[in-house]
Amino acid sequence: ATDLAGRHFLKELDFTAEEFRSLIDLAAELKAAKKAGRETPRLRGRNIALIFEKTSTRTRCSFEVAAADQGASTTYLDPSGSQMGHKESVKDTARVLGRMFDGIEYRGDSQAAVEELAAYAGVPVFNGLTDDWHPTQMLADVLTMTEHCAKPLDRIAFAYLGDARFNMGNSYLVTGALLGMDVRIVAPRAYWPAEEVVARARKAAEVSGARITLTEDVSEGVLGADFVATDVWVSMGEPKEVWAERIELLGPYAVTMDVLRATGNPDVKFLHCLPAFHDLGTKVGREIHAQYGLTELEVTDEVFESAHSVVFDEAENRMHTIKAVLVATLAGPAAAA
Ligand code: CP
Ligand code: NVA
Repeated sequence: ATDLAGRHFLKELDFTAEEFRSLIDLAAELKAAKKAGRETPRLRGRNIALIFEKTSTRTRCSFEVAAADQGASTTYLDPSGSQMGHKESVKDTARVLGRMFDGIEYRGDSQAAVEELAAYAGVPVFNGLTDDWHPTQMLADVLTMTEHCAKPLDRIAFAYLGDARFNMGNSYLVTGALLGMDVRIVAPRAYWPAEEVVARARKAAEVSGARITLTEDVSEGVLGADFVATDVWVSMGEPKEVWAERIELLGPYAVTMDVLRATGNPDVKFLHCLPAFHDLGTKVGREIHAQYGLTELEVTDEVFESAHSVVFDEAENRMHTIKAVLVATLAGPAAAA
């Protein structure tokens, strides 16, 4: 069996396909056990720090519920609630928290920060999202794909539409490449992932047999897809000013019913890590509406609310998959049955 005890979870390509798949399998087992009311807590006495330099609903709640289900405790440090980044370095924070906690989750802008925490904490560190990668989200997305598509992973095709230079686009590309999937990045060329990320994905694809497509053409990109995914057009930490260009360049890449029809697959499913601008009823949404006159952005409300949409299964799976990461890295060996 794959042993991930003591490992960090910083980015997808730190893992072999077998290791990544073992986390998906463990998450499926833990999900089934919880639903059947027969979950065994394997993290009693463990303490986990949750550092959030950016806001969160799903990731924070997933870590807290997963830890609680497994008998571990969590301490949440909000964007203003710790000294780190203000008056204490990442390196010192790592060495302090590593003395008290058995594992540390970190969400912030900098991948270098989460890597530095990992280098100095002496305990497993988990990336809860940086500007570069969102690896725990990938576990949830892949679990959701396996639940909604009968094909083996290496025969699943998925298309990501949107700004592919940031965490979600990067992570989809490398995860598809790692797992041998048919992965399509569908975006204006200016929004394709960085050369270096594409090169890493191509290298992984040589091992896995993945098919990688980068295209500006929506019809070509989605044809035959089992899943169509997107993300917000402006991410946390980006300035408001970028909305105008994103709206202009990404308009043709919004996920509409026509896009789903263009897959030619009546069973195509829609994925979104959330939060989503499928209606503009939120505070930020109303500001965008007032300024640009739009009512929907990266996905239409029709798609979001349709039977194609599996976004709430995906959100639930954040918890089961994050639990798998905690159990795999922090639990002792499973008791013999
Ligand atoms: N998908 C996701 O990471 O959601 P949160 O920002 O709410 O954690
Ligand atoms: N790209 C988004 C993902 C949110 C889960 C962001 O970074 O804000």
